[in-house]
Amino acid sequence: MVYDVLVIGGGPGGYRAAERAGHYGLSVTLFEKRALGGVCLNEGCMPTKTLLYSAKLYDYCKGGAHKYGVDATGAKIDHAAVIARKDKIVKNLVAGVGMQMKGAKVNVVSAAAVIKGKTANGFAVEANGQTYEGKNLIIASGSSAAVPPIPGLRESIPAGVGLTNREILDLKEAPKKLLVMGGGVIGLEMASYFNSIGTEVTVVEMLPRIGGMTDPDLTKLLQAEYEKRGVKFMLSTKVTAVNGTKVDVELPDGKKQTLDTDKILISVGRRANSADLGCDKLGLFVERGAIVTDDEMKTNIPGVYAVGDVNGKSMLAHTAYREAEVAVNVIAGKPDRMSYHAIPAVIYTNPEVASVGETAETAAKKALKFREVKLPMIFSGRYMAENEGGNGIIKLILDPDGIIIGACAIGTPSSEIIPAMAIAVQRRLTCRDMAKVVFPHPTVAEIFREAILNEVH
Ligand code: NAI
Repeated sequence: MVYDVLVIGGGPGGYRAAERAGHYGLSVTLFEKRALGGVCLNEGCMPTKTLLYSAKLYDYCKGGAHKYGVDATGAKIDHAAVIARKDKIVKNLVAGVGMQMKGAKVNVVSAAAVIKGKTANGFAVEANGQTYEGKNLIIASGSSAAVPPIPGLRESIPAGVGLTNREILDLKEAPKKLLVMGGGVIGLEMASYFNSIGTEVTVVEMLPRIGGMTDPDLTKLLQAEYEKRGVKFMLSTKVTAVNGTKVDVELPDGKKQTLDTDKILISVGRRANSADLGCDKLGLFVERGAIVTDDEMKTNIPGVYAVGDVNGKSMLAHTAYREAEVAVNVIAGKPDRMSYHAIPAVIYTNPEVASVGETAETAAKKALKFREVKLPMIFSGRYMAENEGGNGIIKLILDPDGIIIGACAIGTPSSEIIPAMAIAVQRRLTCRDMAKVVFPHPTVAEIFREAILNEVH
């Protein structure tokens, strides 16, 4: 049989592509060598969110319940129980993807797939010693934690000291000390969880700031909040060697220091999984490990598409979903294009940090004309009611015509209010357009409308 679509990888990019293709009546085989759901469901977005929710509840009990008139004295957190709940949720979510595949009549092959080359009908892929043929091929093989060639770092993983996003989620006991290498999204979210449950956390970040390209005003507030809670941040500091539980670092002034830890979280970015796929059999263009794609998710080989982390464009599950939809629409003859200018990004710390589109920094780098509007979140009644003592802020980035080209926020629940601004940025709406949209009251999202109204004259 020649399938309409072969999909390699069952993460958000792969399962969304398979489901969409099945939904359109195309015949599909999806290959997954580990578990359906990929990193997102099994060892990324979803398990971390279950951990962080437990931590948030515990944070409220420990530090804030009395502010709301609640006596939560004696609250305890049981890390093993948190992990057990995480496992249960992951199991259910993975089963849900399996049901979705069944519903879309997708043939799921639980094995590693390797591209064998072109055939008269399209492409050949081998898995479990069997050859599958497809007219179209969607590669959605994801990414893995980058482990830089720092002496002793790779060896620290089998030794049980070094942990990537995979191992850290299965720790049965909370370590006394955790050194987080890399103050990006994974590092900050895990620092947040382990700090909440009582681990001594040190974040070692080689740049002078945490949170990558997130608006620095927001990440400064976030850092200050976590410093208050006892997290130590060592910025402009590089890990130079790992020896058992001793970690050598180079400080900003060039001096060396050795830190003692129990575990090291390696969260210094991710690398696209393209190495063992057989990309060379088709002559696919690969740049620094990432499969090169255009805005229809096409590779240089007609009929072959790459979606999700493997194309290295944005490495977020929600980007992968949309890229998968674009690829399948193109295959099904429904014109579609991917756009990357309004992809929201969230750091699920407590408080959350969320952004979409330009920041003042990225707009200035592009030499765009813009103005920044800033408002404290306490201008939202709902935020006041639910965030006693909170010092959240939001920002809008407006072009000279009042078009909203960026927005960001620190304060909970930024992740839930940023989609409103993602719509504005994606559709290039002006403040005047957005002012016509009625927001429910009372919601924290109203804070954006408040800022927008100030701009309408
Ligand atoms: P990242 O790229 O967000 O952060 C890595 C950090 O490590 C950077 O700040 C970098 O300067 C630093 N770094 C690099 N080498 C270093 C070294 N030798 N010593 C000290 N610091 C070093 O990467 P991260 O956190 O590993 O996340 C990987 C991917 O997963 C990202 O693309 C992210 O978008 C995605 N992700 C998204 C989440 C979300 O949307 N909430 C949650 C978790 C991951």
